[in-house]
Amino acid sequence: MAILVTGGAGYLGSHTCVELLNAGYKIVIVDNFSNSKPESLKRIKNITGKDFNFYNIDILNKDSLREVFSENNIDAVIHFAGLKAVGESVEAPLKYYHNNITGTIILCEVMEEFNVNRIVFSSSATVYGVPETVPILEDSTLYATNPYGRTKLMAEEIFKDMYKSNPNWSIALLRYFNPIGAHESGEIGEDPNGIPNNLMPYITQVGVGKLNELMVFGNDYATSDGTGVRDYIHVVDLALGHLKALEKVMQEPGVEAYNLGTGKGYSVLEMVSAFEKAFGGNIPYKIVERRAGDIGECYADPTKAKQQLDWFATRGIDEMCKDSWRWQSKNPNGYAKDLKLV
Ligand code: NAD
Ligand code: UD1
Repeated sequence: MAILVTGGAGYLGSHTCVELLNAGYKIVIVDNFSNSKPESLKRIKNITGKDFNFYNIDILNKDSLREVFSENNIDAVIHFAGLKAVGESVEAPLKYYHNNITGTIILCEVMEEFNVNRIVFSSSATVYGVPETVPILEDSTLYATNPYGRTKLMAEEIFKDMYKSNPNWSIALLRYFNPIGAHESGEIGEDPNGIPNNLMPYITQVGVGKLNELMVFGNDYATSDGTGVRDYIHVVDLALGHLKALEKVMQEPGVEAYNLGTGKGYSVLEMVSAFEKAFGGNIPYKIVERRAGDIGECYADPTKAKQQLDWFATRGIDEMCKDSWRWQSKNPNGYAKDLKLV
């Protein structure tokens, strides 16, 4: 029996594959490298000393996906494959709806054909829109403020409808807060294309000298120092959350959403200070206008995941910064240097 990991070459997928292999799971990865590099797969093997089947396919290609299911005895799926850039989703909504929604539907259709009905899905805290209150509970109002967010919300609705129509489905919807950090080896990490949109990769690229200074998007929010507050979570804690969710979907049918966050929020300036400590230098920054669409404060109430999955985050902000920096300093150009196929 094996776990199929879609998007397993990506940032969150690669870390989850390492934890799955370390825990003794047999895995099969599919990825089309639309936002990742083959090198990450080589490094998963180096870190774990374990091998796995890999298919360079697009999940939109139903026949290729059928081949994966017929050649492997798939027991459950962890579905990371998706596009995730908010700004790009506003420019190219159809690309996002096609890849994220149609891709998910095709995957579920093939799962049904092969009688596989356990899935762990990558949702996002973005489904809470502008949160009414913090910390955010799973039963808060859900809505989206951009096409990317709408793909996550729609996918969640599709999964809920699937369970209503067939109660054999067993589905965990994991709503991630802000994953940062990297595996402690410094061998795998986040490797964004171009100039990073997100805070931590931007800061680490300032640290490594690829960017000059951080733009802090607004200091007039109703937060302790006026800058935006988020719930940053170590990517390895997040990966381990998938193993717990997998255990849950193996046990019993149902559809449940879980927040994967630490429950604690940090401001942009607090993140800059924490990173400076790990990095041992200064991160120059300037305050600029708010980023359009940004919210002031967003952090999780992770109680449900603790109660029902026996999962909670254990890695703090210093470890997140230290690990982000180790990855960036060991790999100033991410995976770009080595493009050899595994
Ligand atoms: P990522 O881009 O690093 O990984 C996604 C992987 O999926 C990439 O390797 C990409 O090549 C692959 N992929 C995309 N479309 C595909 C397709 N049609 N067929 C096959 N492979 C495909 O992103 P990530 O940060 O690892 O995020 C993983 C998932 O988690 C995504 O669904 C994302 O929306 C969601 N998520 C991420 C964050 C975050 O901050 N990183 C937060 C909330 C939710
Ligand atoms: C991003 C995504 C969101 C996703 C979330 C969790 C965008 C626009 N939104 O939002 O859909 O659900 O991650 O993965 O990408 N900041 C700066 N300067 C920068 C970058 C960020 O000041 O150069 C600030 C932001 O204003 C925010 C904080 O840092 O207050 C974190 O930003 P970011 O890492 O982009 O995450 P989110 O805003 O939560």
